[in-house]
This record gives sequence, structure tokens and C-alpha cells, in this order.
Amino acid sequence: MLKELAYRVQQIKPSATADMSSRADKLAASGRDIINLAMGEPDFNTPSHIQQAAIAAMQAGQTRYTATDGTLALKDAIIQKFARDNQLTFERSEIIVSCGAKHSLYNLFAAILNPGDEVIIAAPYWVSYPDMAKLMGANPVIIHADHKQQFKMTPVQLRSAITPATRLLVLNSPSNPTGVAYTAAEWQALGAVLMEHPDIIVVTDDIYEHNLWRTEPFSNILMVCPALRDRCVVVNGVSKTYAMTGWRIGYTAGPHTIIGAMKKIQSQSTSCPCSISQAAATAALNGDQACVAEMTAAYQVRHDYLVGELQKLPGVSVQPGDGTFYVFPHIEPWLKLRADINDDVALSEYVLNEVGVAVIPGSAFGAPGYIRISYAANMDKIVTAVERLQLAIVKLSQ
Ligand SMILES: Cc1ncc(COP(=O)(O)O)c(C=O)c1O
Repeated sequence: MLKELAYRVQQIKPSATADMSSRADKLAASGRDIINLAMGEPDFNTPSHIQQAAIAAMQAGQTRYTATDGTLALKDAIIQKFARDNQLTFERSEIIVSCGAKHSLYNLFAAILNPGDEVIIAAPYWVSYPDMAKLMGANPVIIHADHKQQFKMTPVQLRSAITPATRLLVLNSPSNPTGVAYTAAEWQALGAVLMEHPDIIVVTDDIYEHNLWRTEPFSNILMVCPALRDRCVVVNGVSKTYAMTGWRIGYTAGPHTIIGAMKKIQSQSTSCPCSISQAAATAALNGDQACVAEMTAAYQVRHDYLVGELQKLPGVSVQPGDGTFYVFPHIEPWLKLRADINDDVALSEYVLNEVGVAVIPGSAFGAPGYIRISYAANMDKIVTAVERLQLAIVKLSQ
């Protein structure tokens, strides 16, 4: 008879986004007409020059274990990427490649967090941050930043969330699920608070760096506050930028003591990321970046359409995004239309069952009263999804 599972597993829940997306796929497979706007991945195929690099690597015999922290070719491509895109300089010992940015973050949390440590996270947050902290026995401390403050934490909120137990601050910009990005001026103000607390490590999750179209160029807190260099960790990857979610390549740059600790964990748990995917990621980072601009332009067209249409729906407040492929409308007024549909979870179920559109309830991101709609889907699907949402609201009001 199986005994109780580990306490760490009992404290966490499965990823809500993965769960909703797979339920929508199952319904579609059973013959239901479902538009899946729950998924968090580009709908484009990986560009062909990247695919070709993987085929060439396989044929050249690059089918064996690589160094734990990644091939030299990929690490050098990452170093060049940081210099080119972020004006940041790293040595090889300050870089580690992992199996996706999620794996990078997991290894980082495992490398620096002890039970009882506090991890500051702003809600709406990416679903995995709090559960990853809990897996390490650490305590997530949530700062709530709603649409009225453009989903961004303020320096005052950050200061008041810090305690002697604070070990890590998690930043994600542009953000999943809101699509908003902090400005350089906002980083400066948050950085000033961090300068008062030299023991706090900062991780900036830049996975949506290139899915950005606002006029101000991308920045992260380290680019704006170089004084944080000895305690700031940058996580990024190829999943969202190059439509490479299935290849599972993410990477981390930071102080070599932290990177070394992550390498130790990776050596005992994963050995190394996939050799073929590393060759593909090298080609992605070193190759022509035109594919990135093309995909981003498509996301922007969809964003503008979707935000425009959502703003016409009664009762909804929509904060336009700066990037990503998500929008996070505030739908609380819809929850007052029918007694049995009085939270965002019930509403998402209703929308899935009644009109066949899969979205994620905001509470999965620590923000009840919202839904996350992904527009990583073609325009026809988005147009139909909007019509169906309109229908759902009409039905709810009857
Ligand atoms: C904010 C954020 N960080 C990290 C990841 C992980 O990306 P991957 O593991 O595919 O590199 C995701 C994926 O959805 C994300 O949205």
C-alpha cells in the first residue's frame, strides 16, 4: 500500500494553465467545437533555419550528453545575446542552460531558498512562482497590483512587503498574464528600494522580452540598476521568442556562485539539456532575427483587435498590454449577472461549456475577478472567440 506522498507535493497544485489547456484539447478531440485561448505558447512553427540546424546537428553526431551547463557554442551565443540586446556582460561561468526557463527558475529557487525564506511576488503572477517557492519550503509573499495601477507593484508596496526573512524578489516584464511591462523609470524606483536591502536576491524573468511593441525599448532592472549586478539573476529562453516551446531550452545569467549552485543541482537531476535543442537554440540566437519581428507584429495586430473588441463588452475593464500574447480583462461585473456564476473559475467553466472558448480564471494568477485570454491563435479564431464571448454575456444576462 502506498504511504503518504512527500509534504512538498501536498503543498502545491498542478499548473492551472496546463490543466485548462489539456481539458480544452480533450473536449476538442471528443468532437466539441472548442477555441483554445488558454495556451501559453506561440501558434507559429519554429522557423525553418532553426529546424535545419537541429537536423544538421543530429546528422553531425551531436546526439550525446553535453556539458551540464550547456555547450560552449550555446553559452557563447547567450553571452552575445546579452551584449547585443541588453548591454550586459557575462563570463561563461556566469551562464547556465537548462530545459526551459521553467527549469531555470526551479533550479534557481532550489539553489538559493531555504525553508522559511520569503519570496516576494507581484500578483497577477505567472502560475508557477508561488508553487516553486513552496516546493522549497519557502513562503510566497504576494503584492497585489490590480488594473487600476496597471498591474505594476509600486516602490511603496515593495518596501512594505520586505521583512528580515525576505530572500528573493521575482520580477516578470512583460508579464504573463497581463502583458504589461515596467518602464526604465519604474525599474529605477524599485531599484532604489532594493539598494536599502543588500541581502535580497532579484530574479528578472525576461522570457517575453521580444514579444514587446510599446515605443520604449525593453529594459530589465539590471540594465537600469547595474549596482544590483552581484545579486541579480536574469532568466530567459527561446520558447516564446522563437516559437520553440517544445524544444525546452532556457538559460540563466548571474553571479557565478549562484550559477555554480544551479549547475550542481542540474548535474544531479538532469545531466544536461537536450544536445539537439541546444544546437537549434544556438542557431536561433545567432541567426537572422527577422522571424522574431514578424511574429511580434502579428501578436500586436491581434492584441489591438482583441483589446478593442473587449472594451466594447459591457462591464469589462481592459488594460492594453505592452507585449506578450495575453490580455487580462477585469470581468467582475459579469459575476453579478447570475447567482451560480459568481467567481472567475465558474465563469471560465461556463464560457468553456456554453460557447466553447477556453480561457484561464484570474485566480490561477492570484487575481480573482479577471480572466486571461491568450491570443496566440490565428485571427479567424480570435474573431470567432470574441463573437462567442459576446454571446456568453448575452446568455448570462438573460
Ligand atoms: C512568465 C513565464 N516564465 C517562464 C515560462 C517558462 O517558459 P519555458 O519553460 O517554456 O522556457 C513561462 C511559460 O509560460 C512564462 O510564462
